[in-house]
Amino acid sequence: MDRYRKFIEATALEAGALLKDRIDHRHTIHYKGEINLVTEADQLSEALIVERIRASFPDHGILAEESPEMSKSSGIRWIIDPLDGTTNYAHGYPVFCVSIALEMEGEIRLGAVYNPMLDELFIAQKGAGGFLNGRPLKVSQTAELSRSLLATGFPYDIRENRDNNMNYFEAMALNAQAVRRAGSAALDLAYVAAGRFDGFWELKLMPWDMAAGVLLVEEAGGVVTDLHSAPLDLLSPHILASNGLIHDEMSRLLARTAPLYNP
Ligand code: IPD
Ligand code: CA
Ligand code: CA
Repeated sequence: MDRYRKFIEATALEAGALLKDRIDHRHTIHYKGEINLVTEADQLSEALIVERIRASFPDHGILAEESPEMSKSSGIRWIIDPLDGTTNYAHGYPVFCVSIALEMEGEIRLGAVYNPMLDELFIAQKGAGGFLNGRPLKVSQTAELSRSLLATGFPYDIRENRDNNMNYFEAMALNAQAVRRAGSAALDLAYVAAGRFDGFWELKLMPWDMAAGVLLVEEAGGVVTDLHSAPLDLLSPHILASNGLIHDEMSRLLARTAPLYNP
């Protein structure tokens, strides 16, 4: 595992440095949807990470956001978001990260989230804890929702689909101390692990948004489930993560909040 740990750390730092170096460049922007964009930096960061994996671990599979999945029979797969917070990045708003996770036989064993603007590397190893620049990660001790700082996000189909989190956002904003929408789900999860946020929920996330962050929260002593406290797997799109102490309160509030849509 040590070899993988050194690799994930070095690769996250390298990809993060690439993103930081380019943030003030004029970006080439393509639209994957009405408001879902991708820049040349997403692609360069992904190419760098994929190239490093192929050179060091040619029999490992790769699931990365901007390319078709590369499957291998080794039972080992890297799950990559080369730039989480693309909309922020494209606007020069310096809140974004690189997220890399290592999955073995279906279980996330290592996760790294790196924010190059603050030079913060969050890293977790299954069963061995989580760390921020070498210091142990620990979730917060806030025990009441009304004293909690929460984070969330909105899906890219917010304009077309009424299942867009506005109902839950209103309920949480009225019951928590405050809710932030910073624009990077992987960083939101890392911040729950670091005790900066007490809880986070979001709809319609993808495995690369969550894989590393979920392990960070769990290894920092937090709880991660789907919105209604059922077990989460990486194909569950809806996530609820917290310090554990406010989990039931968040989940009960979500459950009694009327949906905006007829499923
Ligand atoms: C997005 C960010 C955002 C979240 C979106 C994600 P991207 O990832 O994590 O915070 O609200 O759902 O898709 O597109 O910047 O990698
Ligand atoms: Ca993402
Ligand atoms: Ca991305």
